[in-house]
Amino acid sequence: MLVADRIPPHLILVKLAAAAVVLTFFGVSDVLGATVPKASPRGACDALADARCCKWLNIAEDLQANLFEHSCDEDALEAIRLAFHDGIGRSRAMEWNQTFWGGADGSILKFSDIELAYPENHAVDDIVHALKPFAEAHAVGYGDLVQFAAAVGTSNCPGAPRLRFLAGRRDALTAAPASLVPSPAAPASDILLRMHDAGFTSDDLVALLAAHSVGRQRTLDPTAGGLPLDSTPEAFDTQFYLDVLLAGTRFPGNGSHYGEARSPLETQFRLISDAEVARHPLTACAWQSFINRQDKMMDAFRDAMLKLSVNGQDLARLVDCSEVIPPAPLQYWTKPIAYPPGTGPADVDRTCFDAPFPSLSASSRNS
Ligand code: HEM
Repeated sequence: MLVADRIPPHLILVKLAAAAVVLTFFGVSDVLGATVPKASPRGACDALADARCCKWLNIAEDLQANLFEHSCDEDALEAIRLAFHDGIGRSRAMEWNQTFWGGADGSILKFSDIELAYPENHAVDDIVHALKPFAEAHAVGYGDLVQFAAAVGTSNCPGAPRLRFLAGRRDALTAAPASLVPSPAAPASDILLRMHDAGFTSDDLVALLAAHSVGRQRTLDPTAGGLPLDSTPEAFDTQFYLDVLLAGTRFPGNGSHYGEARSPLETQFRLISDAEVARHPLTACAWQSFINRQDKMMDAFRDAMLKLSVNGQDLARLVDCSEVIPPAPLQYWTKPIAYPPGTGPADVDRTCFDAPFPSLSASSRNS
């Protein structure tokens, strides 16, 4: 089905009007390099509630034109992942011992020589190197840029919520220590402990993992590079929460790899961590509750991402620049999700019995 087929006619008009406004602000033939910041378009800046947010309009345009190319592709996805790998770098236990203060502070960019050596950060090296010049060209902090890039990247993913963005973080003074980013091979109990130590609830974790609905693995099994983590990677939707609950039967590619669980489909990669969180008693019902509840998932992801994006920061210092973040295409994703071809209700590994399992169509909506 064509993307345009999924947009109600009135939304197409709204989108055309929005595109016209954007082109007026930025100019159709504008090519803005990361090293050549330009003055913000006056009309667009004047329309902002807070003039301090003006420079972020330019940075959004620069990122879109010169890194993301307006797509929900590898760079945008790595930027979303990077926001997690930076923001999770906080430990309340270490704060209590007065040994380390971290969080969403850009340490992964500022101390990339240290943090990129941690195994969990190996797949974010390209985006770290790609983003640094943007921070320098626009003279903004690393912590701000990491979270801003994630919010702009998310806006390219059909079905994603419009994330909020607060500017003005204090950048890191030290690198985050090793082992703060959860491993894909970790049991749910370890992941929940790590999330709690970093300031997040089990519900936050389940909501944040919605990012995997557009994600792919690129490094765990290089022979199956690019395999998606659910059957609809083109959409930021709740299909991920259904797919991960289907019984795993095989390892796609050439056998099992570090962090890999059995998948229900040859065309899909499953992380052990996702499989674990979907089935753990503390998270199973929250997990199931997102299936086919697009609005609920979008709200929860937006709120959890805001929490992640300011983790460890002093809120009183931050300026709300959320209006600079564009809305995602197909913001009103209305198609119900469905069992992937060859699977059905009998394949569900049910671990939540507090609520009925959602009734879903047996055929893929893409077929
Ligand atoms: C328990 C927590 C998590 C673990 C263990 C985990 C682990 C992983 C792994 C192993 C990959 C595949 C990387 C590769 O091979 O290239 C991945 C991909 C991804 N993760 Fe996570 N993740 C977690 C939570 C999150 C969160 C909270 C977010 C964002 C809010 C996130 C965003 C992404 C994205 C967008 C991708 C796709 C990257 C791409 O397509 O290049 N992850 N994750």
